Formats: sequence, structure tokens, C-alpha cells
Amino acid sequence: MLRRADNGLFVTFEGGEGSGKTTLIEQIFSFLTEEMKCLVVKSREPGGTAFGTKLRSILLEEKEMVVPPIAELLLFLTDRAYHVERLIRPSLENDMVVLCDRFNDSSIAYQGAARFSGNPKDVEKVCDFAVDGFQPDITFLLDLEPEEAFRRIKGEKDKIESAGLEFHKRVREGYLDLAKKNPKRICVLDAGKSSDEVYAQAKAKLKPIIEKVYGK
Ligand code: TYD
Repeated sequence: MLRRADNGLFVTFEGGEGSGKTTLIEQIFSFLTEEMKCLVVKSREPGGTAFGTKLRSILLEEKEMVVPPIAELLLFLTDRAYHVERLIRPSLENDMVVLCDRFNDSSIAYQGAARFSGNPKDVEKVCDFAVDGFQPDITFLLDLEPEEAFRRIKGEKDKIESAGLEFHKRVREGYLDLAKKNPKRICVLDAGKSSDEVYAQAKAKLKPIIEKVYGK
């Protein structure tokens, strides 16, 4: 069964490479800490913990370590299962806002829809199992055409960035399918717009939620 945390607010950010998640997370972090006076934890997947940093290196950096699709999915989920228990859930229990760069939707879009690491329904089930049905209160999906995203990426590509345009087109379709199925949780933002416009839209969505949860 899918369920949300009883305390705090769990916000995730999703999207393809180069979609501007990092910039948006910084802007939202400043808004929440400075304007709304919230206690905020910022984290990411893979690699939000010391344990996860080791998995991140295998998954994204060590190019000679070729990980088969199912093993790749399970490693992302291992990182997440640990991250939820050791960092996300305890922070929410302390009534904090958790901003997380990627969560289960990434595994469903990248490993399920793009990598075909199994039947998509099974991938969704195993993702829910890894976190015991735990899910974000709200997810911002930064939607961008992969062609534009590829133009934006600078420097050396990591293992998943190197997977090619067709792979990244399937990632985008996977995300848009998820957004269709979860219209209440997933807020789609047009990442082709300027970072200020994207931020303004995200802030307008988040502010009333913060006011409701924290009575601010
Ligand atoms: P990262 O360097 O954090 O980049 P980004 O700014 O794009 O998030 O890279 C994380 C990479 O890992 C990214 O290519 C997506 C991929 N990924 C998956 O394939 N499955 C997952 O479950 C997660 C969390 C990430």
C-alpha cells in the first residue's frame, strides 16, 4: 500500500539530465529556509548517505564495472532503502521538509521504461517494496526534450548520460506516463522555460502546501 509520512513534508524532484533540477532545488531550499523559516534537509539519489556514495560510484562512475539491468535496478533500490531508513524518515519524523533529488520515479522511468530491467509493473512493485510503500507528498517533474537536454550537458558524461538519445526519449515517456497516472502528486514543469519561470511555478504550488502543513 502506498502511503505518505505522518509528519514533515517530503518533496522530490525528477527529470532527465540537464533539466535544471539542481538549480530549482537550490532556489526552493533558499525560499523555504529564508522566507518560510522551515527546517530543511536537502539530499539526492543515488548517494544521499556515505553508504550510498559507494553505490553511486559503481552505478555512475566506474565505467569498467558493467552492471546488468536487474542488478542496476537493485543497486539503485538498495541505495534508496538505506536512504529512506537512515535519513529521509528520521528527518520527516523531526517534522522537517526533505527535498530529494530523485526517488522511485527515477527507477521506474530509467530502469523500467528505458532500460527494460523487467516488466514495468514488476519494476513498480519492487520499487514500492524497497521503501515499504513510502512515497513523496509532492513531486516536481522537470520536463524537457532530450535533444535540448543533450545540448545543455557540459563535460564528460557519466554512465547513464552516455546511454544515447533513444534511451533518454524512453525516460521522458516513462516520466510523462507516471505524471498521467499520478496527477495529484506529480506537478509537471516545462523545463524549456527560464529557471526563474520554472521556480515561480514551483513556488506557487509549494507555498500553500507549506502553509497548510506547518500552519505558517
Ligand atoms: P546525477 O549526477 O545525480 O545527475 P542528475 O543531475 O541528472 O540527477 O545522476 C544520477 C543518474 O542516475 C541520472 O542519470 C539518473 C540515474 N538514476 C537512475 O537511472 N535510476 C535511479 O533510480 C536514480 C535515482 C538515478
